[in-house]
Amino acid sequence: MSSHSEILISGDSILRRVKELGVSISKDLATSELCVIPVMDGGMIFAADLVREITLPLMILPVKASSYGNSTTSSGRVSLPWGIPKGVAGKDVLLVDDILDTGGTLTHLKELLIQEGARRVLTCVLLRKESSRHLPADYLGFEIPNQFVVGYGLDYAGLYRNYPYIGILTDN
Ligand code: IMP
Ligand code: MG
Repeated sequence: MSSHSEILISGDSILRRVKELGVSISKDLATSELCVIPVMDGGMIFAADLVREITLPLMILPVKASSYGNSTTSSGRVSLPWGIPKGVAGKDVLLVDDILDTGGTLTHLKELLIQEGARRVLTCVLLRKESSRHLPADYLGFEIPNQFVVGYGLDYAGLYRNYPYIGILTDN
């Protein structure tokens, strides 16, 4: 696969939507002690922009999750090489990830965080594939077609996370 890509969502559209999400989250969670948990590596760019649009006191406690290896379809297993963040007991937790595909990553993390004593666990996802419409997210950026996308944190074999837009890889 080459590095050519078609733009699906422009950088400007992403940043406009991220601002809106920040406003909603700031209103909804105004009275809580908030822990924002970026799901690394894919959620890091989104989370970095999102936290700067949230006007509440918050902590950032990243978790690293890998379920994909180098392929474009989910392996169905989630590993957490950094373990689960400590310090979430009694707190409201906002899990921030790049995309809902099978939902396996967020469901697994949510269960573990509740076990750690989190008061509640909300999810904020930038993208949701059409095939995953039935999967809930408390905050959602965009619905996208069932295609493999890269950019704004999303990778293919570790590459393209730095693209400021969401793109679809094309063969040439
Ligand atoms: P899920 O656990 O199946 O929902 O998968 C979530 C993770 O799979 C995301 O955090 C991404 O890292 C990866 N993923 C799913 N779809 C895509 C895609 O289209 N492009 C890049 N990564 C993807
Ligand atoms: Mg990922």
